[in-house]
Amino acid sequence: MSKQPLHLQTTTLWDYPSQHYKKSMEPAEHYKGATPAYIIWNLLSRYTKPKDLVVDPMCGSGTTIDVARDLNRKALGYDINIVRNDVFKADARKLPLENEKADFVFIDPPYSTHIRYSGSKECIGELSAKSDEYYKAMNTVLHEINRILRPDRYMALYVSDSFEKGKPVMPIGFTLFSMLSGIFVPVDIISVKRHNATLQRNNWHKAAAEQNYFLRGFNYLFVMFKPSAKNKAKTVFPDRRSNEEKERQIENFEIK
Ligand SMILES: C[S@@+](CC[C@H](N)C(=O)[O-])C[C@H]1O[C@@H](n2cnc3c(N)ncnc32)[C@H](O)[C@@H]1O
Repeated sequence: MSKQPLHLQTTTLWDYPSQHYKKSMEPAEHYKGATPAYIIWNLLSRYTKPKDLVVDPMCGSGTTIDVARDLNRKALGYDINIVRNDVFKADARKLPLENEKADFVFIDPPYSTHIRYSGSKECIGELSAKSDEYYKAMNTVLHEINRILRPDRYMALYVSDSFEKGKPVMPIGFTLFSMLSGIFVPVDIISVKRHNATLQRNNWHKAAAEQNYFLRGFNYLFVMFKPSAKNKAKTVFPDRRSNEEKERQIENFEIK
């Protein structure tokens, strides 16, 4: 059952009242940091078509796999920490996939050390964005995404900046966007309102007001394009939607 009507987001400011649009997509209770399914639904609806292969190199609780299957896309998910048996164990820096196989790549990497995932030494969430280590690791991941992505296809990265009280902000979004732009062509930058449990707590807001700092209110969603050799001008963004899906999406906006 859908929790709320699904429609394409049409501005660069996205907000969702709940994390998942189907009960079956809710991650296991112990899994922290799942991506809202609505985000992946919007991306796959716009940038893929049925039967496309969608890859998530850090797929955690598997939201990307669930949404891809729901939309009749094929899905491949990797993670170093396996929490379900249809995810393959692999380091996102060295994926066991041949070159140019994916039609779309989605990734929601750790934002520095703000959540403790598996604690394993391969976990990029163990690397602080205060040092170069985090960015070096992410640079390898982004090049690996470029390797597996087919030309004339899209990828998206969902990330937040990181902040520790009394310390300079870690502008992870800006830095990763700059790295992405060195590899891909930017399609758009979207700001997604965060609904983390901590943001519901009044004492967190009180502390932010008292001590004069800000809580992270949004995540960046970067949509990037990998042009083919033929598409040298890099200005033609192909529309991969099937006509049928596109018509259905547009119908939702018709004035009745
Ligand atoms: C923000 S979570 C991803 C959430 C996921 N999209 C979901 O909906 O559940 C980040 C994930 O990156 C994984 N990860 C961290 N370092 C990794 C690496 N080197 N290779 C593959 N996965 C990694 C973590 O284990 C964690 O599951």
